[in-house]
Amino acid sequence: MKLPKLPHSMKSRARDRFEAWAITYDRSLLNRFLFLPSYQIFLEELYAWRGESGEPFELLDVGCGTGTFDLMLAASPLKARIVGLDYAPSMCKVARRKAEQTRVGGRLSYVAADSEHLPFADASFDAVTCSNSFHHYPHQQNVVMEMRRVLRPGGRLLLIDGFRDNIVGWMTFDVIIGAVEKEVFHAPWSRIHRYFEAAGFREIRRRKFNYWFPGLLTVGIA
Ligand SMILES: C[S@@+](CC[C@H](N)C(=O)[O-])C[C@H]1O[C@@H](n2cnc3c(N)ncnc32)[C@H](O)[C@@H]1O
Repeated sequence: MKLPKLPHSMKSRARDRFEAWAITYDRSLLNRFLFLPSYQIFLEELYAWRGESGEPFELLDVGCGTGTFDLMLAASPLKARIVGLDYAPSMCKVARRKAEQTRVGGRLSYVAADSEHLPFADASFDAVTCSNSFHHYPHQQNVVMEMRRVLRPGGRLLLIDGFRDNIVGWMTFDVIIGAVEKEVFHAPWSRIHRYFEAAGFREIRRRKFNYWFPGLLTVGIA
């Protein structure tokens, strides 16, 4: 598949859309049908990886939205300290407010920033997660490089986005979501694999899942 030239305006378009959506975002049906399964997949993967050791770890959630996954992780037995990052300040504001209302809020913090310029020192985190956000990034390779940079050696990147390499995925993500959201790009699995390779990830693996729509998890070790 030939890569389209992705316009830089994708970023501001996404930020404006999510700024406007922040207050009602959690009530959207998309949460149940598209996003919730991603959080379950992340939790399963993190349990399988960190569950037995019981050691605390630090996780960065890029494009965290209103922080629903972050709250689920903070409330789980896994001892994670979580930083959520989102380009839309209002999404961070909602996430912060939700965190403050729980007893696990002390494990969570939020930063409004661009995934392409992560405001953290090299090797700051043990894990980076990113769900349902990657298709908004015009410079996807740069973002994967940034994620790799902030991971400690042995740390993991877990990236989930819509799987567009079958007919249902193509129709859902390229045709319908592409028409509604405009200026988004759901990369084919092979392209995501190449991003990971070029950023220096090893033991790259994929997990395709189907709930209401097909999704793809890609995992790499730093
Ligand atoms: C569909 S929401 C997904 C939120 C959450 N990860 C989930 O799975 O429910 C996409 C999020 O990505 C954020 N986003 C878009 N472009 C971004 C960028 N360049 N840097 C960081 N976040 C970005 C949006 O503001 C939005 O909150």
